[in-house]
Formats: sequence, C-alpha cells, structure tokens
Amino acid sequence: ESHFSKEQDFKGKKVLITMGPTQEALDPVRFISNHSSGKMGLALANAFHSRGAEVYVVSGPITLDVDKSKFNWTDVQSAKEMYSASNKLHGLMDICVFAAAVADYAPAQIASEKIKKSDAELTIELVKNVDIALELGKQKRPGQLHIGFALETENEKENANAKLDKKNFDLIVLNSMKEKGAGFQLDTNRVHIFQKDGKSISSEVANKSKIAALILDQIKLAPVWV
Ligand code: CTP
Ligand code: CA
Repeated sequence: ESHFSKEQDFKGKKVLITMGPTQEALDPVRFISNHSSGKMGLALANAFHSRGAEVYVVSGPITLDVDKSKFNWTDVQSAKEMYSASNKLHGLMDICVFAAAVADYAPAQIASEKIKKSDAELTIELVKNVDIALELGKQKRPGQLHIGFALETENEKENANAKLDKKNFDLIVLNSMKEKGAGFQLDTNRVHIFQKDGKSISSEVANKSKIAALILDQIKLAPVWV
C-alpha cells in the first residue's frame, strides 16, 4: 500500500463524531457536567480529516484550540441538543463515533431565574437524559459503522462488551481509569478496543493522536467494509 493511499484511506466517507462533555443547566448561571476535555474526540476528528474523510463534529462545550474550518462543526450544550444535532446528520453518515461524555442525568427543571440561597438544604431532582448512541443504534443502516467509548472503573471488559451489544456498536474503545497516563485532561491515553466478533487489542500509553490513528486502523478492519 502506498503512502498516499494510506493517507486517503477514508476518502469519500462521511463521519459523525460526538465529543466533549454536555452541560445540563440548573438555572441561567449553573450547570451539571463532567471532566471531559474533548481531546480524544478532537484527535479522532483530525485523524479522519487527514485521512480524507468528510468530518461532522457535534461538540459539547470545550476549551481546546480548534481549526473548525476543517470540519462541519456544530456546537451544542445539553444532551438534548447533542441528540437533536446528531439525529439530523445520522442518516447521511458512513461512520458514527460516539466520543462524547454525555451527562446521564439532567435537572428535572431549569429555573428561569438564578436559584437564590436559602437557610434550608437544597435537593435537586434529576431526570434521565436521552442515550444518543442507543437511540441512533436502533436506526443503524446496513454498512454503517457505529463506534462507542466506555469509561469503567470496575469489571471493565465485561461492562464494555455489554455496552457494545446493548448499543449496537461495531467496535468499542475502553478507556481504563486505572491506568497511568490515561484520562480526561491528559494528552496521552491507553485503550482497549473490542470488536463485535470478540477480538480485542490493547494499545500502549501513547499520545491521543497515535491512539486515534490506531482506532482508525481498527475501524478499517471491521467486517462491514468487505
Ligand atoms: N452515550 C451517549 N448518550 C448518553 C450516554 C452515553 O451517546 N446519554 C454514549 C457515549 O458517548 C459512549 C457510550 O454511549 O460512546 C458509553 O457511554 P458510558 O457513559 O460509558 O455508558 P452509559 O451507557 O452511560 O453507562 P454508565 O455511565 O452507567 O456506565
Ligand atoms: Ca454514562
């Protein structure tokens, strides 16, 4: 295989990537969120772009320096907005990568004014958010590839494989919280990639761009391409 064909091996493919955290508003000045930086999602977006794909990004709020002109970029805040933007694109995509750290719950109500402090304790009721990967997984077309991520702190392999099945993923990337050099805000990561057919590979601790390249190589091996 020539250098050129390797570089353009995703040419003609439309790729959706959800990335970053979501923010679930409590009131006009507060939200519930998580520590996702969007670095792994962005590394994947860059890798797909440089290998010739047309990349559609739906991103929660991130603070990274991004050249958005390389992508079809949509900024969203909440899980609801991320679902709506992703759902619009989904039917046109060849590959969907669910790299976002979507908040599992959101406040049941968004106060229209700033919640004032009182002498009493405050209890916040949370309701379940839409599971974007699960819902879009139900609509997956033949030939379309869905790639999920999992973050586990226990029973990693079992939990990751259960998510692969439940969400109709072709491949799931497990981020291990236990490993040194892997994590939300870091530039490095170590992942384990599980295929639908039970095969798996593990990466070294490496730069997120190198991990992204490895994930793309694994996507190329998925049975659906043949
Ligand atoms: N995901 C999603 N929408 C959600 C929650 C998760 O699209 N509301 C996607 C993530 O982007 C990821 C995969 O589903 O690709 C697994 O996310 P994860 O949080 O690990 O799994 P959950 O199903 O939310 O289970 P839990 O957090 O309880 O482990
Ligand atoms: Ca979750």
